[in-house]
Amino acid sequence: MSFPVHRMRRLRQNEQLRAMVRENSLSVGDFIYPMFVVHGNRVKQEICSLKGNYHLSIDMLIEEAKQVRDLGIPGVLLFGIPDKRDVAASEAYSPQGIVQRAVRALKEEVPQLIVMTDVCLCEYTEHGHCGIVENGYLQNDASLELIAKVACSHAEAGADIMAPAAMLDGQIKTMRDALDKKGFINSALMAYSVKYASRLYDPFFKEGTKSNVTSGDKRSHQMDYSNSSEALREIALDIEEGADIVMVKPAMFYLDIVYRAKEQFKMPLAVYNVSGEYAMVKAAAEVGKLDENALKLEILTGFKRAGADIIISYHAKEVAQLLR
Ligand code: PBG
Ligand code: ZN
Repeated sequence: MSFPVHRMRRLRQNEQLRAMVRENSLSVGDFIYPMFVVHGNRVKQEICSLKGNYHLSIDMLIEEAKQVRDLGIPGVLLFGIPDKRDVAASEAYSPQGIVQRAVRALKEEVPQLIVMTDVCLCEYTEHGHCGIVENGYLQNDASLELIAKVACSHAEAGADIMAPAAMLDGQIKTMRDALDKKGFINSALMAYSVKYASRLYDPFFKEGTKSNVTSGDKRSHQMDYSNSSEALREIALDIEEGADIVMVKPAMFYLDIVYRAKEQFKMPLAVYNVSGEYAMVKAAAEVGKLDENALKLEILTGFKRAGADIIISYHAKEVAQLLR
């Protein structure tokens, strides 16, 4: 038998052949666009470190959401920036809270969009932690009740999918029970199952929600980035507790986890391409003379190859335009 029997290059000769054997591809339907909503009117202020993303008052949020819909992006993930922050995180579950009002407006004006909400307390507490803090420690069980209250208030406003983000133990079950008891049996939960304690959230806190922790950090409840098997246990627990979708966050440095999660659980799987990842791409393109569009398509396709079904990304609108 003379060399070569196989010539791998045969099917790479031109774009038609490459397309024919392509195993994974991005589609606009894979994306969820995160949005930041603030109080006020006619507010549309760019978030410097997340160029192309904005703080939006509800009127402007609606305009932007219509564009998101027209681009073919199926849904948005809402973050609220409250007027005041307090120890009880009271705006987090108020029917007149910024997120609750935004959800109602979106459901009324742009009913075609899936509305997801981040369910956490860190944007609403003065100390920036994700729940009730006592003796410098985030109290798990005492925070659960509050978190469930937030989820119910979002469901009440009409949100389709709630995304519990606090990494509290038992939060999925607590929320599922609370939602079911109120009759919200079809409100879905997308669990931030695997959330690593990561510096990649810095732009989000420093400029996105302006809810940086005033002391300490979140390593007592978010995952240590040195661990991987533990991530699978986190996911297993959330599935058991009733999660409809599970998530790995951040995305870029954690594709080993994404791959193992999909292999093991076959659940609908989301990745969160977080603020620091976005900022890195923008900076690399600017400083390193990389082709930004090519770079992000390569990164985002990597998420699909690893096994992600849903990509939450600040690039969503840009990519939707590129894929047209
Ligand atoms: C929690 C939440 C965070 C992010 C999304 N939801 C911060 C955290 O969990 O510590 C980070 C998102 C990003 O960096 O883009 N409310
Ligand atoms: Zn939080």
